[in-house]
Amino acid sequence: MKQLFLLVTLSILCSCSSSKYETIKNSAADYQVIPKPTSLTIQNGQFLLTENTKIIAAASLENEANYLSNLLTEVSNKEIAYTNAGSKKGSITLQIDPTIANEEGYTLVVKYDGITISGKTATGVFYGIQTLSQLIPVDKTLSKLAIPATIIEDSPRYVYRGMHLDVARHFFSTDFVKKYIDILAMHKMNTFHWHLTEDQGWRIEIKKYPKLTSIGANRKETIVGHGNTWNKENVQYDGIPYGGFYTQEEVKDIVAYATERHITIIPEIELPGHSLAAVTAYPELGNTGEQYEVGTRWGVFPEIYSPSEQTFTFLEDVLTEVMALFPSKLIHIGGDEAPKSQWENSKLAQEVIKKEGLKDEHELQSYFIRRIEKFLNSKGRNIIGWDEILEGGLAPNATVMSWRGEKGGIEAAKMKHDVVMTPTKYCYFDFYQTSKKEDEPLAIGGLTTVEDVYSYEPTPKELTAEEGKYVLGAQGNVWTEYMSTPEHVEYMILPRLTALSEVIWSKKEDKNWTNFQERLQHITKIYDAKNYNYAKHSLKSKEK
Ligand code: ACM
Repeated sequence: MKQLFLLVTLSILCSCSSSKYETIKNSAADYQVIPKPTSLTIQNGQFLLTENTKIIAAASLENEANYLSNLLTEVSNKEIAYTNAGSKKGSITLQIDPTIANEEGYTLVVKYDGITISGKTATGVFYGIQTLSQLIPVDKTLSKLAIPATIIEDSPRYVYRGMHLDVARHFFSTDFVKKYIDILAMHKMNTFHWHLTEDQGWRIEIKKYPKLTSIGANRKETIVGHGNTWNKENVQYDGIPYGGFYTQEEVKDIVAYATERHITIIPEIELPGHSLAAVTAYPELGNTGEQYEVGTRWGVFPEIYSPSEQTFTFLEDVLTEVMALFPSKLIHIGGDEAPKSQWENSKLAQEVIKKEGLKDEHELQSYFIRRIEKFLNSKGRNIIGWDEILEGGLAPNATVMSWRGEKGGIEAAKMKHDVVMTPTKYCYFDFYQTSKKEDEPLAIGGLTTVEDVYSYEPTPKELTAEEGKYVLGAQGNVWTEYMSTPEHVEYMILPRLTALSEVIWSKKEDKNWTNFQERLQHITKIYDAKNYNYAKHSLKSKEK
C-alpha cells in the first residue's frame, strides 16, 4: 500500500515536471552550434540533465557512450552512467541507423522526455555527441542543465577535414597533443597531420636508427627573434639546448586516443628536403659526408638526402616502423622546399640522373618520390605530399596538398589526383591574425584573419563539377617556429580553426559571417570552460 502510494505520488510529480518542460518555447539563440548543421528544427520543450539521466547504447557504441558519459559528467558535475539497455524515457540513446545516407552523418533528436542520437556509423554518433555538447548550457552554477528540444539532421560537405601541427620546430608534450586532438574532435575535424621530422629536430623514435633521436632530436640552441636561413647577419641564439621526441609507446597511446575520437593521424616523414636532423644523425645519408649540426635557425637548408640505395633502405626501414604505428591509409612524405644545389654538385646524384634517363634534378626528386610511393603502395598505403611533388612529374597515386596557393591543387585535380587544399592566405595559422602586429606575439609574417579563413571556398571555380570531386577538403597548418608553448599554439588556432571547421563541414550556401560571429560568441564560452587559450581581440571585426 505504502509502495503504491509512493508510485502514484512519483508519477504525479513526473507528469507535472514533464508537462512544464514539454512546452517551454525556445528561440534561435538557444542553438549556437559550430559548424552549422545541415538542418536544425527548433522544437518546444527542454530535456533536463539530472543525476538520473542514463546513457543507453549497444555494445558496439561503448566507446561513444563512454566518451559521452565522461563529457556529461564533466559539464554537469554529476555521474552520468552508461548501460546496455533500459527505458529510453529520460535517457540519452545512442544507436546505429543504416538509413542515414552519409557515412559520417547523424540525426540528433532532443525531446523533453529523451534524447536520441542516431548515426550511419559510430563516427556519425560521435558527431551527434559533439553537437549535443554545444547545446548544453556552459554555466556550471546553474542548478538545472536544460537542453533545448530540436531535430537536427547533419552530415559533412567534405571527407577530409584536417589540422596540422609541427612538433619539430618546437616540441609539444603528449598531454598537449591530446588536448589538440580534443580541440579537433570538438570541431568535427577528422584528420590530424602530425609533422614529425624537420631540420630542427627528429621527433619520433625509430628502433632501427637510434641516433635519429639520440642525436637528431636535439639542437644546441635556438635562434632568437626573426632570424632565418636567408638572414645570417646579426642573429642571436639563446644558448639553451633544446630537444624532445615521442617514444613508440607514446605514439601508440596518441593514435589510440585519436581513434577513440574518430580522428585519423597522418604522420609526416619529410623527404628529400627538410632532413638536416636525419643527415646530422647519419651523415652517410647526405650528399657531402660532412658532419652537420641539427638546425638552430628557421627556413630552408641546402642539406637533403642523397638519392643513394643506402638512403632508400633507410627510408623504407623508417617507413616500415611508421606504418606499424599509424593505420592511416595516407602517409605524408613532405616533398616541399628541397633545394637542388647539393644534387647538382654530387657525383652520385648525377650518376642516378644519367642511369635513370632523367632530365634534371627536379626529375630526380620525382624519381625519389615515385620510389617511395612504390614502396608504400606495395604495403597498401598511399602517399600525400606538398604541391612541389608535381615538379618533375607527379607520382601515379599521390594526393597533393596545395599550399603555395591553389594552383597545385587545381593542376592535380585536373590530372584526376586527390587534393587537400591548404593555401597560405586562408589556412596558415602561423600567420598574424590581425593587422595590428604590435598587439600580437611574434609570428612568421603574413595575415590570415578569422574572416579570411571563414571566406575560404576550398573547391576552386576553375574546376568543373567532375574535377571538383577530387578536392577532398581542406586543412589548417600550424608551423611552430615562433610558438614555443601550448598556450601560444591554442592562441593561434582559436578561433581560426573554428571558422575553418564551418568552411569544410557546412553547406556552402549556409555561410553567413554575421551569423557565424554570433555563434562564435557562444563557442568562446566553451573555450573558457575547457581552459582553451584564444585570440579574443581577433573576434571583434574585420581586421585588415
Ligand atoms: C610548407 O609550408 N613549407 C609546406
